[in-house]
Amino acid sequence: MSVPATSANLGPGFDCMGIALQMYNDIELETGVPFEILIEGEAAHLLPTDRSNAVIVAIDRLLDEIGATRVPRDWRVRMVNRIPVGSGLGSSASAIVGGLVLGNALAQAFQPECAISTADVLRIATDMEGHPDNVTPALLGGATLSCPDDIGTHTFAVPIPSHLHFVVAVPYFALYTEESRKVVPTSFPRSAAVFNAAQSARLILALTTGNLSLLRGGFGDKLHEPYREPLIPGYADVKRLALHAGALAVTLSGAGPSMLAWCDEEHKAWEVADQMTLAWREHGIACEAHVFQPVASPTVVREVALG
Ligand code: HSE
Repeated sequence: MSVPATSANLGPGFDCMGIALQMYNDIELETGVPFEILIEGEAAHLLPTDRSNAVIVAIDRLLDEIGATRVPRDWRVRMVNRIPVGSGLGSSASAIVGGLVLGNALAQAFQPECAISTADVLRIATDMEGHPDNVTPALLGGATLSCPDDIGTHTFAVPIPSHLHFVVAVPYFALYTEESRKVVPTSFPRSAAVFNAAQSARLILALTTGNLSLLRGGFGDKLHEPYREPLIPGYADVKRLALHAGALAVTLSGAGPSMLAWCDEEHKAWEVADQMTLAWREHGIACEAHVFQPVASPTVVREVALG
């Protein structure tokens, strides 16, 4: 199976909006073999190869929670990771969603009466991650809006205009979500709340009407980005050069440090990518920039072969 990277927040949608992007971690699981984990790619040498691995924790959590006692627990799991860790592209959400979807597929195969719905998988994923904005698009694909209330979280798919292209500029330094969440205050001035309410509405309007030019000029956030900016050297210059090169808006990707430039044409997006890379290089920071369109399809297990 392939689980996409995600970009959370999308500017003003702190902890409630996110989008799936065309960068994937692949996971293959085989049963009927001794327990083994093989990892290639991003951070391969840093990730645990025992049951504390995040993908395995998620599989075990799902099987325990649904009481799937007849599902074998020894597997060979092969992972090819492409989503950089600590980059703001949802690598932990991808591990959680990948593990839960695989766990549910194992239940389907060995103890089908225990398998659960996608909504229940999402509930567990949100509980594991602590917020829904990465795990929801990682599981369902597309752009998503998660609205919490006293009963639970309501999930909505947000339409994506076909001409929307994102530049994702990934600098070569990690900023872990835990550290980046610590600097975000727990209460805000009323003016910041009003600003974000208006900007979130503006974003939904731009996406649902397909009129992306609604995002040009002053689109942004006052709940998290201003507090995180000091953790990200070069932030202001990367943003300035991207806007100058034609980006409609520039937001932080998740908790950072990657930055997301919103573009309405692919050729402009590549020019923006070059300028963002240059801006970071001028701060002595290497950077890799990608141009992505959002992923529309949900995360599913492609093939089940029982061992
Ligand atoms: N909404 C989260 C944050 C995303 O901004 O901290 C990062 O996991």
